[in-house]
Order: sequence, then structure tokens, then C-alpha cells
Amino acid sequence: MTFKIATIEGDGIGEEVVKEALKVITAAGVDFQATKFNLGAERYLKDGKVLPENELDALRKFDAIMLGAVGPPIGSTDVPAGLLERGLLLKLRFSLDLYINLRPFIAPKGSVQEDADFAVVRENTEGTYAGEGGLLRQNTPFEVATQGSVNTRFGVERCVRFAFQLAMKRRKHLTLVHKTNVLTFSGGLWQRTFDEVSKEFPEVKTAYNHIDAACIYMVEKATAYDVIVTDNLFGDILTDLAGAVTGGIGLAASANLNPEKTGPSLFEPVHGAAHDIKGTGKANPLAAIKSAALMLDHLGEETIAQTITDAVTVESQILATKDLALTTSEIGDRVAERVANANNSN
Ligand code: NAI
Ligand code: MG
Repeated sequence: MTFKIATIEGDGIGEEVVKEALKVITAAGVDFQATKFNLGAERYLKDGKVLPENELDALRKFDAIMLGAVGPPIGSTDVPAGLLERGLLLKLRFSLDLYINLRPFIAPKGSVQEDADFAVVRENTEGTYAGEGGLLRQNTPFEVATQGSVNTRFGVERCVRFAFQLAMKRRKHLTLVHKTNVLTFSGGLWQRTFDEVSKEFPEVKTAYNHIDAACIYMVEKATAYDVIVTDNLFGDILTDLAGAVTGGIGLAASANLNPEKTGPSLFEPVHGAAHDIKGTGKANPLAAIKSAALMLDHLGEETIAQTITDAVTVESQILATKDLALTTSEIGDRVAERVANANNSN
């Protein structure tokens, strides 16, 4: 079967890292056809479009979507703040019901939390990101802004259940992260749902951390984590911290999943468009390559996915310990070679 993959290279280094990811899955012998979608800041500046309905409908027909990164250079005012986030990234998550944001971390030696190996399951369609709220008396001294957090039993339960299922495939340990002592309404819903779903998974050991404490543990003993489940905002922040202590932004990969596969899921590195290093060969493509491995795993190619993840882990270790000044495409070549060799020896 030929996988139909839509690619949104986006802006800045997006194109450079997606190219390496495609190079690696080609070397792995994956049968796929890639179709480019021109979306992001550059596209918006060309014709004022962010995500036209017909392009969203076209994307629905693919098996998966690979995204590089979207956004203008920092400091640029050409694109209104939040336009691409709300109009493209969040719109894709909401319309395609990508309700899980899965971010696995494996820390190479030499990183702050070396040997840590855990995954964060972030709820991806609700919470403070749902867009609830508004402004009153804007631009007056009496301005009021509200931005509520939307938490549905249905949304929390499906996210928590996914996390338990993932823990079953790993070391069978799941930590709920929230702020139940202060956010008693949403926190209460999360905690009760977590406790109820946990009864379906008696083999999974559970724990609870407040988000602020989780930030301490993340930099002091992240090796204790196996799977973490949390809401949209806490997950966004905690995974940036997680990335920073497990080898850096160049390694952090993510999957935006529709686990029921009623449509395509979307795979992207956590990092942004990094215009400051565009065209210099300094962009680390490992996060994008690892995201491609998450994509293959989701598409049922678990063995190939594992081979790629292992190759990325080995390569990240070499990059972390040896003083090699490798370019984006050289790193891609090395991973591709490793993956091709692993294939030949099987
Ligand atoms: P950024 O992640 O693009 O860059 C932050 C820093 O990390 C920079 O110093 C950059 O050089 C470095 N960096 C990022 N990726 C790297 C890689 N693969 N290898 C080596 N170094 C890397 O975040 P920033 O600067 O805040 O945002 C730049 C643009 O990207 C903005 O327009 C922002 O809105 C957008 N952005 C897009 C995201 C997405 O598409 N999902 C996520 C985050 C930011
Ligand atoms: Mg973020």
C-alpha cells in the first residue's frame, strides 16, 4: 500500500527538516507519495489565505500530514499575532479532531536528565486553547478579558484512556499532572475521570503531581516518569521544559493524533521556524525525523518506526558527545544510512 502523505513545509527551516525526514523514510523503504501544501506565513503574505476550506478538505483525504514549522521571523509584524496559530495549527487540530498531542522524550547522555525516557500525553482540543472567552470595553481603562478553560468529561476521558493504553505498552506507570488544589473545577473533573478510568487498567501504577512540582521533578528526576497525562496548556509548557532537559529543541518530536483514524493525523517537530538559522545548515532535523517515525508507527509500520527511532537515538548520542559540526543534510544522510543498513541486516 502506498501511503498518501501531505506535507506542509511551512516557513523558515520547515522545508529543510521535512526534506530530511522524507529522505529517511525513503531509505527505510516506505512506499509513499508526498504532496506539498503551501501554507504558513509566506503563503499568507502572498495571497492573504491561511487555510482555505477547499485545502482543508483536500488534506482530509490523506493518510497523514507532516508539518515543518510555520511562522514569520520573530519581531516581524507582517502577520497578525495568533493568526497562524488559531487559523492554521489549532484549526487543523480541531477540524481533524487531533485530540492527543503525544510527545515522547529519550534523553541522550550529557543532557540535564540523561537516560530519562518518558512520554507526555497532552489533551489537544480543549482547555484554555478552546477559544472560550472574550473582551469587554476593549481599549478603555475598564477593559475586561476572560479566557476560560473548557474541560468536557468526554474530552478528558478519551485523553486519559489513551494515556493508560500507552502506559500499558511501556513501563506501566502513569502520572496525572494538573493543579487540582487551586483549579478545583477542572482539576476535579480530571482527577475523578483519571481515578475511574484507572480501574480499567489495574496493572498501571498511578501518581499525581501538581504542575509546579512537576516542573521541579522534570529538571531533577525526570527518569522517574514513564507516561504523563495533562491538559492542553500545562502540556504545552511542560513539554518545552521536557525538551530542554532531554537533549534540546532539536530532538523534540510530536504527534497530533486522531487515534480512531477517522481522518489523517499530523506529525511535526516541536520547534518553530527558526528563521535565525535558515539556510545555514545548522537546523537539527532529528526532531522532524523522529516525528516521521511517530507517523509510521501510527500508520501501522511499527517495526520501521522503531528502527528510525533507534537510529535517531544513536545519532543524537553521537551528536551530543562528539564535537562533530554536521549540517542538516549530513545528519539526515547519517540517519538514512543507519536505517538502510538496519533494513539490509534484517
Ligand atoms: P523556534 O523554535 O523557531 O526557535 C527558538 C530557538 O531554537 C532559535 O534560537 C532557533 O535557532 C533554535 N532552533 C529551533 N529549532 C531548531 C533546530 N531544529 N535545530 C537547531 N536549533 C533550532 O522558536 P521562535 O524563535 O520562538 O519562533 C520562530 C517562529 O516559529 C515564530 O514565527 C513562531 O511563531 C514559529 N513557531 C512555530 C511553531 C510551529 O509551527 N509549530 C512552534 C513554535 C514557534
Ligand atoms: Mg509550545
